[in-house]
Amino acid sequence: MARSNNRHVVAVTDANALARAAADRILARIAANGDPVTICLTGGSSPQRLYQLLATEAYRRQIPWQRVHWFIGDERFVPADDPLNNMAMARRTFLDRCAPAANIHPIATDTADPEQAARRYESKLQSFYGADQLDSARPLFDVVLMGVGPDGHTASLFPDYPAIEEAERWVVGVPKAHVEPFVPRVSLTLPALNSCREMLFEISGADKRAILTRVLAGENLPASRAQSLGETIWLVDKAALPENFRG
Ligand code: 6PG
Repeated sequence: MARSNNRHVVAVTDANALARAAADRILARIAANGDPVTICLTGGSSPQRLYQLLATEAYRRQIPWQRVHWFIGDERFVPADDPLNNMAMARRTFLDRCAPAANIHPIATDTADPEQAARRYESKLQSFYGADQLDSARPLFDVVLMGVGPDGHTASLFPDYPAIEEAERWVVGVPKAHVEPFVPRVSLTLPALNSCREMLFEISGADKRAILTRVLAGENLPASRAQSLGETIWLVDKAALPENFRG
């Protein structure tokens, strides 16, 4: 699969419509792709409505849970049951009620430090993928969900941090966060995140408009550099949509 620079902005009315659009795209990818389907989740507040929606009967019954595997793009280096833990939020919101335990793949944080957690998750991803080199013809993930922070970070790849330039590793430890919560992080790198059929950003609310304007103007920010080998979709609600994208 060759990189297509295929970035589309899809405008929706509000946060509820955004969650529905994201859920429908996920269902379409699951239907189109094989066995197993691999989905890389994200943390933060942006995906929470989507996760709640996936657990509702209408969506839940359309997902073949046995063949879908759930990963996470970045994690805060806090215990698995800490309210700040990204996978804990996803588990609480939908995974624990819907997905077989063996299909949930958290970043373990019971390690000595974020670097060790990163090495372990990298091995896990490589063994699931069946190789330690990414092949652009065979993406690691079917879908990667993403959010954007006020500084243009995505996952835990912060502007001007060395992790953003990582070209070999799939997962790295990030000793200090650039924005709240100020806990160390573990993050997939751009080569791993970009290795997907579809990358789906969810952007909602007026407080995202300034950073989204910068990203869509092509400023060199981590979120601008996150681009799928296949399609990159920016789902944006009205409140977050920059002036020049308004009809
Ligand atoms: C995290 C995230 C991070 C998040 C953005 C947007 O661990 O915080 O994975 O990259 O997606 O910061 O966060 P919000 O959705 O809360 O605005």
